[in-house]
Amino acid sequence: MGFKEVFLIACVVGAVSAQTYRVCVSSAQNSPTCSSLSRDDSQVVCSTVESRIDCALRLATGQADIGYFSEEETLLLAQTQPNDNLVIASVRDVTKLDPNAFETVSVVPSNHTNGLEGLRGGVYCHPGFDRADQRWSPRVLRNLEELAARTDRCPNVNINGKTAEEVEVETLNGFFSAACRPGIWSNNATVDALLKSRYPSLCERCGPNSGCSGYTINMGTQIAGVNNNNRHIQALECLRTNVNASSAVAYVAWQHVREYFTIRNPQDAPNFSLLCPNGTLVPLTNDVLNNGVSPCAFIRQPWGTLVASTGNAQTLLNSLRTWWPSGSNPNDNTWQSTLFSVLVGGANARVVYQDAPISVLNYTSPIRTISPAEATTSCLPARRWCTVSTLEQNKCNWIRAAAHTLGIQPTISCLQRNTVLDCLSDTKDDQTDFISIPSNYGYLARQHFQLTPVKLVQNAQADASRIAAFVKESAVQTSNITRFENLRDKIACFPEYGGLAYVSFVRAGQERGILSSTDCDYAQIVGEFFGGACAPGAIDASHALSDSNFNASVLCSACRPTVPIVGNENASTCTYDYNTNLYFGNNGTLACLSNPSSDVAFLNTRNISAHLSALNLNASNFRALCRNNSLAANTGINIDDGCLLAYVVDAEVVTRRNDPLYHALNTLFDSLDFYFGYTAATGNQLINLEIFSPLNGAKDLLFKDSTIGLTEPTTASTHEPARNYMELIRHLQACTGTNPPVPGFANRNVFSHSIVILIIMAFMTKFVVY
Ligand SMILES: *[C@@H]1O[C@H](CO)[C@@H](O)[C@H](O)[C@H]1NC(C)=O
Ligand SMILES: *[C@@H]1O[C@H](CO)[C@@H](O)[C@H](O)[C@H]1NC(C)=O
Ligand SMILES: *[C@@H]1O[C@H](CO)[C@@H](O)[C@H](O)[C@H]1NC(C)=O
Ligand SMILES: *[C@@H]1O[C@H](CO)[C@@H](O)[C@H](O)[C@H]1NC(C)=O
Ligand SMILES: *[C@@H]1O[C@H](CO)[C@@H](O)[C@H](O)[C@H]1NC(C)=O
Ligand SMILES: *[C@@H]1O[C@H](CO)[C@@H](O)[C@H](O)[C@H]1NC(C)=O
Ligand SMILES: *[C@@H]1O[C@H](CO)[C@@H](O)[C@H](O)[C@H]1NC(C)=O
Ligand SMILES: *[C@@H]1O[C@H](CO)[C@@H](O)[C@H](O)[C@H]1NC(C)=O
Ligand SMILES: *[C@@H]1O[C@H](CO)[C@@H](O)[C@H](O)[C@H]1NC(C)=O
Ligand SMILES: *[C@@H]1O[C@H](CO)[C@@H](O)[C@H](O)[C@H]1NC(C)=O
Ligand SMILES: *[C@@H]1O[C@H](CO)[C@@H](O)[C@H](O)[C@H]1NC(C)=O
Ligand SMILES: *[C@@H]1O[C@H](CO)[C@@H](O)[C@H](O)[C@H]1NC(C)=O
Repeated sequence: MGFKEVFLIACVVGAVSAQTYRVCVSSAQNSPTCSSLSRDDSQVVCSTVESRIDCALRLATGQADIGYFSEEETLLLAQTQPNDNLVIASVRDVTKLDPNAFETVSVVPSNHTNGLEGLRGGVYCHPGFDRADQRWSPRVLRNLEELAARTDRCPNVNINGKTAEEVEVETLNGFFSAACRPGIWSNNATVDALLKSRYPSLCERCGPNSGCSGYTINMGTQIAGVNNNNRHIQALECLRTNVNASSAVAYVAWQHVREYFTIRNPQDAPNFSLLCPNGTLVPLTNDVLNNGVSPCAFIRQPWGTLVASTGNAQTLLNSLRTWWPSGSNPNDNTWQSTLFSVLVGGANARVVYQDAPISVLNYTSPIRTISPAEATTSCLPARRWCTVSTLEQNKCNWIRAAAHTLGIQPTISCLQRNTVLDCLSDTKDDQTDFISIPSNYGYLARQHFQLTPVKLVQNAQADASRIAAFVKESAVQTSNITRFENLRDKIACFPEYGGLAYVSFVRAGQERGILSSTDCDYAQIVGEFFGGACAPGAIDASHALSDSNFNASVLCSACRPTVPIVGNENASTCTYDYNTNLYFGNNGTLACLSNPSSDVAFLNTRNISAHLSALNLNASNFRALCRNNSLAANTGINIDDGCLLAYVVDAEVVTRRNDPLYHALNTLFDSLDFYFGYTAATGNQLINLEIFSPLNGAKDLLFKDSTIGLTEPTTASTHEPARNYMELIRHLQACTGTNPPVPGFANRNVFSHSIVILIIMAFMTKFVVY
């Protein structure tokens, strides 16, 4: 560096010393960290973000100045925000300062012929799909097999009834004669076990009793400097011992190829070569093995990065150079040291500065490019996620891009509609494939739109949906209401026709014997029981639950328009929106109950005290009527869960009944939950996108923030509100005879022979009364 440059930097540093930079810090970090970051004459402050995707969005809009992005996140940003922000440094490992975080290569015997096609019928040795190496995404893990066995095209494979993993493994099984491909092939344990039992040859070379969970081959003696338990070393040993097969290949990291053939088995190096993606061979000579960069890699991985907002990138780059001159943690108890820990990481992390800030795309494109989702072939068509707002569409597009970056199958596409009901209708009509809906619409989705659940959400205790019945205290007194029977001919309020509160009352009424258990016209039995009601949507075709001729307008007689009709203040309405129906929704139901003529309300108790105070109502005017037919001893809204008519999950994911890709969608959600759910160790994820959390501050997008995970839609779920929900649905559908047969997944015959599925479909179409 000449005097001029030193002078220039000194000037710039002098000029910016007053500036304070906003550093993205995960909300999981505690506030003491942020305090110590601001100590002394600190030039940085915390900008607390929910996820690193939030950070990227803030950088792009200039609301934050710098953040760290992992390897895969940097690749994601190259697709979603290629030129919005600038890379100012990469973050490497002190033990491996190579230009690439890792490289994947294919090693074959030197007499290999015929390029990638020459691998057909041979042996395949793989380090494993069990995330022993956290940094290999599914896309990286599968790269060789995708290119060699063309697992991304399957012209002759019948995909119906199958998961993406099943189609993939079936293709691989037809390509390689034997393999060791240990680890998890599907994030659904049932699918995984099924595939392992069906395609044992893909685990055959793992060694005796491996269970396909790793290698148990004889590794011989341990040699200093090479770890015999390392999966890449084991895969190379697998290759060496299968050298007499018609062909053989190990797909491993270059770093370990070098260890193996320079330290462990140098005598074998002349007998092996790298197989390049273009089919040529490169012998493993000393020169080649001594190079940190492989002669030809299948994938080269860019290091994680420090990314800055465009406006501040150059000054930040200059500042970082003065704060961390050697690129390592100064470890001197200063705010600069804290900043290093917060932003960069532990003792092994080294910052390597860019000469000048470059766009994220310019940083990644010489190293690795991922073709855009829409330009990528795959065996299964994209699953179309129905969204109901621009913000949801935006979040969906991030999930889509992140899943595509990692190589999760099937791919996702995002389609925006106006309302949940539009989404349900378009899913029924095969215009979209799935949507996450509030459980309020669960029965309607099944009964009216003929959909079926893929997953239920799990909720924290406090967030599950709780449905209660409240009788007006004055009605309790004047009409002597103590039991459900006493509600006959009274006036009832519901948030929405066919909604969770409505069907929970139907069940309670049938259990108590006040509603017929054999007459399953749920409009008629409720309409004939009460003297009047407000159940918004009752006469709307979009909410119809049956084909009956019953005139459901009695179920709207107690509803009131938001703008009263002059001269007829008792005129009703049956619309189902806040703008026109004053009594729509949970808060509207309370307003309905406060009308002098109403007697009882059925509603979700979520936020009920906020609604009461917003409406200026007094909780002591209401008394709960419990599912077991007892009247609460005290007035008020505080009731225990035993009194509720329903205690169920607040949302679920639904799709078409009998969709041939039902199972593929189910396991897609297992993967999304694994990579982007709360089970993923926060911060250590390949991509720190949180599917159940707000995005850029916007709440309840695609999933409510109350979601903590997913569960199977069965009465055997381990989550109580999920079991309860399935039991409620089962009760309702038992009456109408619409309980669909459980998709025959565990049953191999039904699962694999679509003819049986077709028969079931024919059976259902013929006999089920919707
Ligand atoms: C491969 O075959 C040759 C000749 O048949 C034999 O000498 C050699 O030991 C075999 N190698 C392995 C790894 O089995
Ligand atoms: C390579 O040599 C081995 C014996 O060392 C043999 O078994 C194998 O068939 C040969 N492969 C090819 C492709 O010629
Ligand atoms: C390795 O290659 C040499 C010739 O390059 C050959 O003589 C030898 O048999 C090979 N060893 C094995 C184990 O295939
Ligand atoms: C194949 O790729 C290697 C490594 O990138 C390169 O050296 C070689 O020239 C390529 N061969 C052909 C035929 O394209
Ligand atoms: C990116 O690369 C292109 C082509 O080399 C160059 O014109 C452009 O200035 C670069 N942009 C940034 C921000 O690095
Ligand atoms: C109220 O009902 C109970 C039982 O349903 C009955 O015993 C009681 O006499 C009734 N009271 C009045 C005031 O009607
Ligand atoms: C249903 O009843 C309402 C009022 O009782 C009446 O105005 C309406 O015309 C009826 N609808 C049908 C389709 O009979
Ligand atoms: C509205 O209903 C109330 C109670 O049923 C009744 O007292 C009142 O007269 C009605 N008003 C009109 C305009 O019908
Ligand atoms: C209920 O809440 C919705 C949405 O917050 C609001 O638009 C509506 O006016 C409320 N209804 C009543 C009766 O307060
Ligand atoms: C509860 O009501 C309050 C006030 O109306 C509102 O700010 C809050 O978002 C509501 N919470 C939920 C979960 O609906
Ligand atoms: C509600 O009513 C009860 C009894 O009528 C009364 O003691 C209480 O102060 C009231 N609360 C409010 C907030 O008005
Ligand atoms: C796996 O998927 C099937 C259907 O797709 C489902 O029935 C089963 O419960 C799932 N198993 C697990 C362990 O998630």
